[in-house]
Amino acid sequence: MAERRSSIHGQWSSKFVFILAATGSAVGLGNIWKFPYITGDNGGGAFVLVYLLCIAVIGVPIMMAEVMLGRRGRQSPINTMTTLAREAGASPFWKWIGWMGVIAGFLILSYYSVIAGWALAYVFRAAGGAFTGVGGEEVQRMFSRLVSDPERLLAWHTLFMVMTTAVVARGVRSGLEKAVRILMPLLFAILVILVGYAMNTGHFEQGLRFLFRPDFSQLSADGVLIAMGHAFFTLSLGMGAIMVYGSYLPEKASIAGTTFTIALLDTLVAILAAVAIFPIVFANGLEPGAGPGLIFQTMPIAFGQMPGGILFGTLFFVLLVFAAWTSAISLIEPAVAWLVENHGYRRLTAAILVGVLSWCLGLLTVFSFNLLENFMPLGFLAGFQDKTFFGLFDYLTANIMLPLGGLLIAIFAGWVLQREASVDELRLGDGLLYRGWYYLIRYLTPLAVGLVFLDVTGLLDIGGLLGLLF
Ligand code: TRP
Repeated sequence: MAERRSSIHGQWSSKFVFILAATGSAVGLGNIWKFPYITGDNGGGAFVLVYLLCIAVIGVPIMMAEVMLGRRGRQSPINTMTTLAREAGASPFWKWIGWMGVIAGFLILSYYSVIAGWALAYVFRAAGGAFTGVGGEEVQRMFSRLVSDPERLLAWHTLFMVMTTAVVARGVRSGLEKAVRILMPLLFAILVILVGYAMNTGHFEQGLRFLFRPDFSQLSADGVLIAMGHAFFTLSLGMGAIMVYGSYLPEKASIAGTTFTIALLDTLVAILAAVAIFPIVFANGLEPGAGPGLIFQTMPIAFGQMPGGILFGTLFFVLLVFAAWTSAISLIEPAVAWLVENHGYRRLTAAILVGVLSWCLGLLTVFSFNLLENFMPLGFLAGFQDKTFFGLFDYLTANIMLPLGGLLIAIFAGWVLQREASVDELRLGDGLLYRGWYYLIRYLTPLAVGLVFLDVTGLLDIGGLLGLLF
């Protein structure tokens, strides 16, 4: 067996810090902004069920695989895949997983930063008391005033990108540990408070029914793909972010244990956010399928009515920005690590280069909500008629590139890497747990991803099949 490598970028100081950093990466806009609105767009319960199945059958095994490959290779995903493929006597083709990940990371960060900018803008609205006593119509107007103004969006997008680049430039370790340790539990607490508020809206049950009673007639084939894509997105899988974090993981840490913890926390935050939001939606006659503005058009109503709303509202958006920040840094870490390894760049230079490129691409998302709101770049293709640049980037990355990357990672971990290597790296022995994972990653996980892709082509009806079961 190859001797143990170490990473030139350093290591997390403990397994606990890795859990914090990876949870910081996983918990972000995906949980609080995206999960509720795509659930609303796709009819609720059935979508949530498919999403949870995807987390269990696809997300968890692939996360274990990514962490394992990362720790085994101890380099940026591109170089890790090159090295591991060489050691396994496989084709150098596998390094393209790393390349596709770098490109996906760029694309995601470009729009992620714009949305995080909305949250930044809302910090100031909340603190200024702008939500006091607002109703459904006013929050909608407030939201469209923001997104219809490209200059304002640009300013917030720029600020967020600078914040992200600054952290990556210093190295993802410094500062991150302490901040995540305090702010994550706070975010959790404020979500619980919001759920408490939602319980008193008089529409709590309706919200729960919407989220947890599956009605498969509401779930389209595209909805199934979006649910799977989101399982990748929310766990930061399929592009090497978790792989690069795994490459800084101390030797002894248990990969299965950390993965379960991260997946559980991530899922909990998403469910809490949705449970808080939908009762507010129904109580105020808002539209569950309102799209990307959903949380910005619901949470302010709650803060405007509850006692201490200015404080809680400000805190909520601060924590949302923070959650987005700890996620965003993981989106460019693979590219930065690669530039440092292969081109001898200083971290600072590499981070600025990547940040500037992603910022430029972000302009297309900024304009997707105003100047180019009616411009559909691939509008000539069926299924893309309603997708602006933002919609397109989101769809291509979350629903196509990440699942494809994940599929390749599963195949590599299950079929290309020698079995002894994964037994050795996972440290689970060769018992039931290891075999369970090995079976999933070889057969069930790739099959599930493949079936969802097949579902979209119309050759299979997963929604219909699940409808028979539940
Ligand atoms: N998981 C984060 C969220 O839910 C977003 C994110 C960070 C991400 N790093 C990633 C998504 C890597 C895909 C790949 O907000």
